[in-house]
Amino acid sequence: MSLDRDDVVRRTAEHVRRALEGEPSGHDWWHIYRVWRSALAIAEGEPADRFVVELAALLHDLSDRKLNGGDVTLGPKVAREWLAAQGVDEETVAHVCEIIADLSFKGAGVPTPMRTREGMVVQDADRLDALGAVGIARTFAYGGHKGHVLHDPEHPPVLHATVESYYAAPATPINHFYEKLLLLRERMNTDTGRRIAQGRHAFLEEFLDRFLAEWEGRDGE
Ligand code: NI
Repeated sequence: MSLDRDDVVRRTAEHVRRALEGEPSGHDWWHIYRVWRSALAIAEGEPADRFVVELAALLHDLSDRKLNGGDVTLGPKVAREWLAAQGVDEETVAHVCEIIADLSFKGAGVPTPMRTREGMVVQDADRLDALGAVGIARTFAYGGHKGHVLHDPEHPPVLHATVESYYAAPATPINHFYEKLLLLRERMNTDTGRRIAQGRHAFLEEFLDRFLAEWEGRDGE
């Protein structure tokens, strides 16, 4: 009997929803939902295997190193265990796990190329959720979760040259804009991703202008 792909996607979505429902740092089920929807929209214009795109989008944050104590190998491992239990073929499992392992941002000076079209689509979708109004909201939710102050002008942002220094240095939400969010527009892989990133990037810049003006007692207009 051949695998019912729609059924695997549906069961995977339910599994991830149960695992990440209510997650408090901006990596909750609704982040996954948005990335899943964006990835499908981006994939329409790309020669990408939709099954791989959906599974990688759904499973990409099931165990994130930011939230699991720093273990970068756990994400692909829990995805592999789940997919193998669903009877998904090894080639697809390996592809999805490779995407999950390669996906995340690792510092301003660290390239994060994706090997396949499917990986490019999912990486773009995940990065779009770090931009725009939702990206701003998630950045402050994460800062609150970690107990960071909103902004500290005495600690300027650092463009990290290595993944070790990026992971080790806690950033305030405002520094996170400079250390990651504003760099994402230039790193988009697909035409659709690039186009959507333009508007969301402009919104980040507008927000920062107002925030920093208000910080100094100006009216922000
Ligand atoms: Ni994500």
